[in-house]
Amino acid sequence: MSNHTGRIEIDSEDDILKARQTAREVAEEIGLGTTDTTRIVTAVSELARNIYLYAGEGSMEWERIPEQNRNGLTFVFEDEGPGIADPEAALDGEYSTSNGMGRGLSGTQTLMDDMEIETEPGEGTTIRIRKWE
Ligand SMILES: Nc1ncnc2c1ncn2[C@@H]1O[C@H](COP(=O)(O)OP(=O)(O)O)[C@@H](O)[C@H]1O
Ligand SMILES: [Mg+2]
Repeated sequence: MSNHTGRIEIDSEDDILKARQTAREVAEEIGLGTTDTTRIVTAVSELARNIYLYAGEGSMEWERIPEQNRNGLTFVFEDEGPGIADPEAALDGEYSTSNGMGRGLSGTQTLMDDMEIETEPGEGTTIRIRKWE
């Protein structure tokens, strides 16, 4: 895989696996080590699963960010589901509408260098995460 960007549609358990595999390949290809690669795979897994569980379907787009002295990776998760009612509480890790631990989003933020959430009730959710080499 030597593309600079790619996209995966997420609407099944199998697509969560595809998203994980793609994230691992891309991270290894830009030269990230085992620890960062595992962080990315964990974060991607969580966000892809949230789309599947809470929105039913959506997508993941990844993009390499080549800079002069370092490489980075961006992943954008987008869905047109119900939106996250209280994103701040969700980032505090105290909020779950399922029987999950409610630690997915807060854990993801800890694992990544940057994370942005845009969400609107009834409109959907876009989450962008980034990791630098
Ligand atoms: N893509 C999404 N669309 C709608 N709601 C979401 C989405 N992702 C997360 N949420 C909401 O935020 C809550 C917290 O998510 P998370 O931190 O992953 O914990 P958990 O999945 O264990 O509940 C979820 O219970 C759900 O209500
Ligand atoms: Mg979750």
